[in-house]
Amino acid sequence: MTASPRGRTPAAHSGKYLVTGGAGYVGSVVAAHLLEAGHSVVVLDDLSTGFRDAVPEGAEFVEGRVQDAARVLDSSYDGVLHFAAHSQVGESVQDPGKYWNNNVGGSIELLSAMRESGVRRLVFSSTAATYGEPESTPIHEDASEAPTNPYGASKLAVDHMISGECRAHGLAAVSLRYFNVAGAYGRYGERHDPESHLIPIVLQVAQGRREAVSVFGDDYPTPDGTCVRDYIHVADLAEAHLLAMAAMHGERGDPGAGEVPAGTHLICNLGNGNGFSVREVVETVRKVTGHPVPETAAPRREGDPAQLVASAERAVSRLGWRPTRTDLAEIVQTAWDFARSRTSREEQAAAAEGALSGGERGSGGRERGGA
Ligand SMILES: NC(=O)c1ccc[n+]([C@@H]2O[C@H](COP(=O)([O-])OP(=O)(O)OC[C@H]3O[C@@H](n4cnc5c(N)ncnc54)[C@H](O)[C@@H]3O)[C@@H](O)[C@H]2O)c1
Repeated sequence: MTASPRGRTPAAHSGKYLVTGGAGYVGSVVAAHLLEAGHSVVVLDDLSTGFRDAVPEGAEFVEGRVQDAARVLDSSYDGVLHFAAHSQVGESVQDPGKYWNNNVGGSIELLSAMRESGVRRLVFSSTAATYGEPESTPIHEDASEAPTNPYGASKLAVDHMISGECRAHGLAAVSLRYFNVAGAYGRYGERHDPESHLIPIVLQVAQGRREAVSVFGDDYPTPDGTCVRDYIHVADLAEAHLLAMAAMHGERGDPGAGEVPAGTHLICNLGNGNGFSVREVVETVRKVTGHPVPETAAPRREGDPAQLVASAERAVSRLGWRPTRTDLAEIVQTAWDFARSRTSREEQAAAAEGALSGGERGSGGRERGGA
């Protein structure tokens, strides 16, 4: 583990948590943080976009759909952290039904299983995409919610469902609206396929795995003309999940402040409050990696707002959250360490496979020699 926990609030008691989507990027980092804080963790994931080897050691793994959560949940659980979803904006525009079906359908079944089994605490991965194009920045939680794609709309629908469940059935819930999650936590990092997030894409260019990074629009009303986004380190994000769960147990030690009782749905943005432009990200990748990163200019993409920056004041005041990895170079460095270690593992695996298939042929040298 190259990254270490910082400013971690120790668990006042150890609990048992279901982590849906815990074989994915964010879910695996949160599962690792829960285990490190002394909790026990069951990961439920169908591996549709996740990886079995991303599930942290020490977590129990159940391969299955969140739609079947009733088969896993029982009253021994203290809460659920719900990450399982499809999350590609472009794909959601091409195939909206897939998003309504999985993100909304899966959450309906999960809420029902939680009700049936008496599990009454939920942390949900919501998103900045619920706001759509912001009227002003930084974006507060009372900003208007007008998602511009089915992905954001499906997440907003789940937020509405959760509010209703809290009011009607006494669930306690915290929806965390992430802005751009980035960076890695030791061996847990971003492995989306296809990759759609800027930092891993630029790192692939630095590694020579892509030719160039496309900069979509350089005439936005921002200091350097490129889009500005709020990048939050995945370990800071993970700590917010533990604080959110603790707030629902009322165990932060400061009663009255920041607690989320039964029947309450708290929605908090999570961002580091600092925007970085596409050009700043590219420049930082060049500095951190020491590699050239060729750029190509591309037209603006429809629906790409100039700036998306969070106000995370509510998470700070209600959850006691403090992001500590807000420096872009540090975020990029952790992602770069992760990307290099993955590449070397892939190369070793390919070499081992090559050696094995050569051995199986038994006459690999002759075959090559005869070419
Ligand atoms: N990464 C970001 O920048 C970001 C930003 C905002 C919100 N989010 C949200 O955070 C969550 C995690 O995102 P991520 O980047 O880790 O994505 P990811 O694709 O790496 O992880 C999602 C995980 O959920 C699993 N999954 C999907 N549908 C499932 C189902 N029906 N049953 C069981 N497992 C299922 C996948 O196999 C995968 O392991 C998602 O809900 C996403 O919408 C992510």
